[in-house]
Amino acid sequence: MTSSTSTSPFAPTQDELKALVGRAALQYVDPGSIVGVGTGSTVNKFIDALAGVKERIRGAVSSSEASTARLRALGIAVFDANEVDALAVYIDGADEIDARGYMIKGGGAALTREKIVAAMASRFICIADASKQVEVLGRYPLPVEVIPMAARQIARRFAALGGEARLRLQGDEPLVTDNGQHLLDVHGLHIEAPLAFESEVNQWPGVVTVGVFARQKATLCLLGTAQGVQTLR
Ligand code: 5RP
Repeated sequence: MTSSTSTSPFAPTQDELKALVGRAALQYVDPGSIVGVGTGSTVNKFIDALAGVKERIRGAVSSSEASTARLRALGIAVFDANEVDALAVYIDGADEIDARGYMIKGGGAALTREKIVAAMASRFICIADASKQVEVLGRYPLPVEVIPMAARQIARRFAALGGEARLRLQGDEPLVTDNGQHLLDVHGLHIEAPLAFESEVNQWPGVVTVGVFARQKATLCLLGTAQGVQTLR
């Protein structure tokens, strides 16, 4: 990806950087369109900005119950993915993004629906603050949604690759995703070849979704930096 930066006169907090890229993403929303909407604190800023132009769009396809609730609370229509054939853009955050636009996602537990909605879209616009940029994916523990009965077997497969898979908890209980499944967070990976890695893990029985977004990589990334919004293509 190459970059261009628009400058800004203030030294923003991380929250302000998220709001900055959330607003910047509006330029990729076509009038009269249905927008693919991701999940997370950065996307929440985008949803808030989208509410300001809601009369100009038809609505959204959402990637989580949380985003659906926020969209509806702000008066934005939410379509079921099966009602829509294709989307021009999908706008979502990331836990990590590399220079090629490959990402780790799923910190907010919404990776499966995120991948589904991303696959409907012609373009994936990633919005992220600068802390998400990495050289090699894997510093952030890789989320993997799994069928609960396969969790231990999948954890053993990751151990053979040098990763330590931990079941994500909510309080004392396993977190249950919007799809009724469990999540593993895999520590200690160094993902040099994201496309091959995604394909391999996708084939393991019991894996619902691996949080490497290589096939559904970002078309471009709006990166919030102290100097302003940097556009990585
Ligand atoms: C949710 C995601 C989010 O996009 C990712 O976790 C980034 O979240 P945030 O914008 O809150 O940092 O993949 O499943």
